[in-house]
Amino acid sequence: MAWQGELGSGAAGPAIDGHTRVVGVFGEPVEHTLSPAMHNRAFAALGLNYVYVAFPVAPARLGEAVRAVRALGLAGVNVTIPHKVAVMDHLDHVEPAAALIGAVNTIVPRDGRLVGTNTDGAGFVRSLQEEAGLTPAGRHFVVLGAGGAARAIAMQLALSGAARITLVNRTPQRAEALADAVARAAAARVEALPLEERAVASALAEADALIHTTSVGMAPHSDVPPVVPPHLLPPHLLVCDIVYTPRETSLLRAARARGCRVLEGLGMLVYQGAIAFELFTGQPAPAAVMREALEEALARRA
Ligand code: ATR
Repeated sequence: MAWQGELGSGAAGPAIDGHTRVVGVFGEPVEHTLSPAMHNRAFAALGLNYVYVAFPVAPARLGEAVRAVRALGLAGVNVTIPHKVAVMDHLDHVEPAAALIGAVNTIVPRDGRLVGTNTDGAGFVRSLQEEAGLTPAGRHFVVLGAGGAARAIAMQLALSGAARITLVNRTPQRAEALADAVARAAAARVEALPLEERAVASALAEADALIHTTSVGMAPHSDVPPVVPPHLLPPHLLVCDIVYTPRETSLLRAARARGCRVLEGLGMLVYQGAIAFELFTGQPAPAAVMREALEEALARRA
């Protein structure tokens, strides 16, 4: 009965019965996912007869698993590592933003077709708007990193009307390749820079926000110095980290000490889930409830 506890402190969810809609996440490994805690608490809070479960899916069985979404009438699924790219081959349609990002993290049935979407970049943008009050249109962002998370965020910022995006990466060729892809997708001015102090300093001096998307600073290696030296952070800058363990990374701590506003990574996790919840249920997501469930699940882990 351990999972009943996931439904919330004292707040039992609706009983599972013949009407219960099933959603979940496909991944491998998937045992440590925080999504069931977050979504099941939200279903309970709204009294929705849904249940969210983790499905371990081996790469060789991904096609079968996707076909099962239709066969079993699931209301939707999230897709996580290592399936976010490969899953696109098994869908009837991939939404344009997800196609540009090159990854799908949510599948929903729509008119009998399985549609792939990506709520990671959109989740970051909603966190930016809701929690930091910053709307991307017309703004200049410096994105640190050039992996999958950077791609989802940079692409979504460009699609949301960002005026300028500066991509900074340890391996400059990866930043250049991502810059080409983002520039092809939207009207933003996009540039790639190596991780060098002078270049980064002048970009940050003109930027509205820095978004750190590498894994540097993630527990258990949280005591490392930030990728950007703190003296390069001007006080006007909003500094965002997508790492959420710990909540306050070495970068955010340094940014606060410099007088910058900061945005923690937990918000992106909350809002990528909130947008998926809305696709699964058609109801506005209770974001505050989802955040509380995540905070509790993370505290239990610590
Ligand atoms: P994800 O898909 O989760 O975003 P990824 O594709 O492995 O992860 O990308 C990791 C990003 O973190 C890359 O931009 C990587 O830089 P490189 O392209 O040069 O490898 C960056 N990264 C990882 N460790 C780093 C470090 N110690 N210093 C600077 N950047 C680092």
